[in-house]
Amino acid sequence: MAVKTDWHKLHGDAFRAARCVVTGGAGFIGSHIAEALAELGASVAVLDNLSSGRRENLPASAEFIHGSILNSDCIARACAGAQFVFHQAALASVPMSVERPREFYDVNVTGTLNVLECAAAAKVKRVMFAASSSAYGDSEVLPKMESMPPQPMSPYASSKVAGEGLMRAWANCYGVDTACLRYFNIFGPRQTADSAYAAVIAAFAKAMLSGKKPTIFGDGEQSRDFTFVHNAVHANLLAARSERSLAGDVFNVACGTRVSLNELARVMRDALDRADLTPVYQSPRAGDVRHSLADLTHTRADLKYEPVVDFESGLRATIEWYKTLIPSV
Ligand SMILES: NC(=O)c1ccc[n+]([C@@H]2O[C@H](COP(=O)([O-])OP(=O)(O)OC[C@H]3O[C@@H](n4cnc5c(N)ncnc54)[C@H](O)[C@@H]3O)[C@@H](O)[C@H]2O)c1
Repeated sequence: MAVKTDWHKLHGDAFRAARCVVTGGAGFIGSHIAEALAELGASVAVLDNLSSGRRENLPASAEFIHGSILNSDCIARACAGAQFVFHQAALASVPMSVERPREFYDVNVTGTLNVLECAAAAKVKRVMFAASSSAYGDSEVLPKMESMPPQPMSPYASSKVAGEGLMRAWANCYGVDTACLRYFNIFGPRQTADSAYAAVIAAFAKAMLSGKKPTIFGDGEQSRDFTFVHNAVHANLLAARSERSLAGDVFNVACGTRVSLNELARVMRDALDRADLTPVYQSPRAGDVRHSLADLTHTRADLKYEPVVDFESGLRATIEWYKTLIPSV
């Protein structure tokens, strides 16, 4: 069963008729932000080069600009008259970034600088940046608090930390307000499973629904704060609505609970009634962190954030969605 979040109840008329730009809005998280905004009566413009996103992910009412965040003309066109920018476009895979670091810096850092320049020129009210929990690296201290020093362990993580720096600098120097939302392992419908770099829930779902055993890199005791995508959408909308200037402030976006990959595989085996699909273990991957768990104190206090969908409900809905893709996942 699909998860139905009542965006109107949560956000009322806050976005009605407001022009909102979603970069990367044809991708997984961006398309859920675009969908919620469209439901709330916003005028949604999506800028995406479709490198991993898909046109069919967009809500019907959204204006689509097919272009790159490396092309300032396209960004300027999207930002004209906009109040908010939800900047999701990025290359978003840790292992791929280890292979192609320069490309990741071009898109994730220079591209983010381009978005900020255009947003400032268009006098956008606030830019919400898709930051990443990978910023915390593999320090053993849990839970992760925003006040901890960043320790990026991969080119991807370091490009995302650089993006946070740009958000703070642009708020300080160029009068565009910004917020950095550090997502912790977001999952849900539309997360792509058809790549060697797929995130873990998508990869497990694809394997198990095709009758194959899921692969775990390492011993499976590594853990993540798995977060259903509507929680990330909610945090973005709350940040946009904040009455105080956020000036590049960083916020954890998560559920505040930790699940090991062995546990995840077990829950998915139960959900699919496939006790035979026990994991296959391979060597750990470069750049992967061991444990991840968010402290939500700051996000709760400042943005009045509470997760709107828990892990199990989100996982069930996500598995149901992957089932609809069979045999094409
Ligand atoms: N999924 C997660 O758990 C997670 C965790 C932390 C941070 N993030 C961040 O959230 C954002 C969205 O991630 P996602 O999981 O939805 O990934 P995704 O790959 O589904 O979405 C990224 C989108 O950006 C687009 N894109 C890539 N390069 C572009 C460019 N040069 N110009 C325009 N569009 C471009 C892609 O086509 C895609 O639609 C990313 O910034 C990612 O780094 C995701």
